[in-house]
Amino acid sequence: MINRSFNGFGQRAPVHTSTCAGTHMRTIAIVSQKGGAGKTTLAIHLATAATADKRSVIVLDADPQATASHWATWRRNEEPEVVDCASPSLLPRKLQQAAELGAELAIIDTPPHADIMARDACKNADLVLIPCRPQAFDLTAVETTAGLVVAVGRPAFVIFMGGPQRAPTTYKEARELIEGAADVAGLGLRVAPVMLTQRAIYHHSTASGRTAPEIEPEGKAAEEVAALWTWTSGQVNLSARSRVNRKRAA
Ligand SMILES: Nc1ncnc2c1ncn2[C@@H]1O[C@H](COP(=O)(O)OP(=O)(O)OP(=O)(O)O)[C@@H](O)[C@H]1O
Ligand SMILES: [Mg+2]
Repeated sequence: MINRSFNGFGQRAPVHTSTCAGTHMRTIAIVSQKGGAGKTTLAIHLATAATADKRSVIVLDADPQATASHWATWRRNEEPEVVDCASPSLLPRKLQQAAELGAELAIIDTPPHADIMARDACKNADLVLIPCRPQAFDLTAVETTAGLVVAVGRPAFVIFMGGPQRAPTTYKEARELIEGAADVAGLGLRVAPVMLTQRAIYHHSTASGRTAPEIEPEGKAAEEVAALWTWTSGQVNLSARSRVNRKRAA
């Protein structure tokens, strides 16, 4: 049985043997040099969707602002567990401990304007997600993050966050801009086919220690989060166990 409580790594919990015997813990780094791009919103929605899908998940909060850790406190430390990791030098050890304790998935939430932490998180990741608002200044800023990420050589995708709900032309142009610039620069960067659009529930739910699907399991945001988890889990070969995991999050 998977140990689903990591106790903040403060207490030595029994090692999960099948993980040690070969199940590879997947690590996803969420990075964007731009502040307010949606990193923490993406991290906690992904982690909570994975938890609702019966995956053993840990969030490493690598941001000194500790937004994800505050969210966990408001949530009264209900799963997924959020562990503080504010120094890049601690990252490999924290990830190793998470794997030894049976985590199937670690999600690293990184700070803005922090090259070393972002680079180290990417180096330790199987997949890098770069949240970005589909608007001019943010699209330009993505290039800085993309250069940093792609230099590390991990699969990386931009995820549009907080954009309009129905604006196919906006998304098409933003996608072409990012992928076109990436091709010119020789960066293998693509835009994910899933997104979390601008919806007040993403903000309201997290501000009270929840996530959008937990507040409105039948809502549009829940559909977006379910699609996000299905796609992301496929990218790291950790297939979603339930196509309707948003219902489990209720
Ligand atoms: N899809 C969305 N719809 C509505 N509000 C959103 C959405 N995504 C993020 N937000 C809101 O935007 C703000 C910034 O989001 P968030 O804190 O996730 O960004 P961040 O990149 O982690 O910021 P920082 O760089 O400071 O760590 C928050 O108030 C959040 O609730
Ligand atoms: Mg944040």
